[in-house]
Amino acid sequence: MAAQPTELREPEAAAPAARPRISVRGLTKTYHTRRGEVAALRGVSMDVAEGEIMVLLGPSGCGKTTLLRCVAGLEHPDSGEIVVNDRTAFSSAERVSLPPERRDLSMVFQSYALWPHMTVFDNVAYPLRTTKVAKAEVRERVHGVLDTVGLEKYAASYPGQLSGGQQQRVALARALVTNQGVILFDEPLSNLDAKVRERLRDELLGLQRDIGFTALYVTHDQTEATGLGDRIAVMEVGSVAQLGSPTDIYYTPSSRYVADFVGSANELHGSVKELTGGHVLVETPVGPLLGSTTATLTPGQPVRVLFRPEHCRVTAGPEGQNRLQCRVERSMFLGSHVEYLLSAAGERLVLKTMEREILAPGSEVGVCLDPAMARVFPAE
Ligand SMILES: Nc1ncnc2c1ncn2[C@@H]1O[C@H](COP(=O)(O)OP(=O)(O)OP(=O)(O)O)[C@@H](O)[C@H]1O
Ligand SMILES: [Mg+2]
Repeated sequence: MAAQPTELREPEAAAPAARPRISVRGLTKTYHTRRGEVAALRGVSMDVAEGEIMVLLGPSGCGKTTLLRCVAGLEHPDSGEIVVNDRTAFSSAERVSLPPERRDLSMVFQSYALWPHMTVFDNVAYPLRTTKVAKAEVRERVHGVLDTVGLEKYAASYPGQLSGGQQQRVALARALVTNQGVILFDEPLSNLDAKVRERLRDELLGLQRDIGFTALYVTHDQTEATGLGDRIAVMEVGSVAQLGSPTDIYYTPSSRYVADFVGSANELHGSVKELTGGHVLVETPVGPLLGSTTATLTPGQPVRVLFRPEHCRVTAGPEGQNRLQCRVERSMFLGSHVEYLLSAAGERLVLKTMEREILAPGSEVGVCLDPAMARVFPAE
């Protein structure tokens, strides 16, 4: 079923108090292709506050790049409004559409997009030269920003002589040099290997905290999203499925889609047995389970209970609240934790634990669930 246009539930309540640097309202964009129409954005609204990193997270094709390109002015939306730095950059109602160079923002792409025939210095200086900044100031600002990203000694090198991580630092320096304060990132780290990606992610966060730029940051990597984002907008086929802090999204996902995309989740079918003071008692194939919900449910209603592998606790004894009787099928030692594949009444569950003692296959164990961490959603 196609998702309906999603307005933020409570934009004022959800957004921090600071003045938004980017504001998007009711944005729609449909591509007309030979294979038919693709509704890439179906009414997206969000505010990005001064100094905030807003992450757009979602699977391939959900519209992340389209939204970023609309904000940048590289794509023309069908309807809605975009305000950047208090200036209307796009408005279908007012028939306004500023060209990219007048939107006062810079972009960093996955592919670095550096000019191979220009030195690092010239690549970084480029946006200043197109705006006619005096030569001495260009030198000073370029060297300053290269120093900030740790590339001062590569000023005379060519991009082809640098590693991927260094090239992406050049692209970051070029985005920072104009000092416009708003940077759009489209998967800037996904071409890099895992270690470099982690280091650059930490550096980026450090730079953002030092310099204070505002960012709209696209990724489909959940760890990058929760590590970098002040807030995350989880996107689902052209709409915002949930917008909130990383902990909101992780601990209280608003739908099965969000729960499943951000982290992993065990899922049990069941039906509502009883609604009790903020909790829901669900009858499941593994027995009754107490969970939490934000949905309005009625007794008898078919539901799904979702809980994360890291939110279960193994208990040896026969007692325990919200206890499931399970059998260990397989265990995997992964260094930082142990992962178990368990079975319970024909259901398969995954559990993660940091206990050092490893349970043998065939062991009978009890698994306890915190009702707050067992999220109950209506079955579609
Ligand atoms: N220029 C285009 N012409 C036609 N369809 C397009 C165009 N650009 C994007 N689309 C379609 O719009 C939808 C959203 O694409 P978009 O590039 O925004 O996704 P994305 O979330 O950035 O995905 P990815 O993670 O793969 O980069 C997709 O279905 C895509 O095929
Ligand atoms: Mg994309």
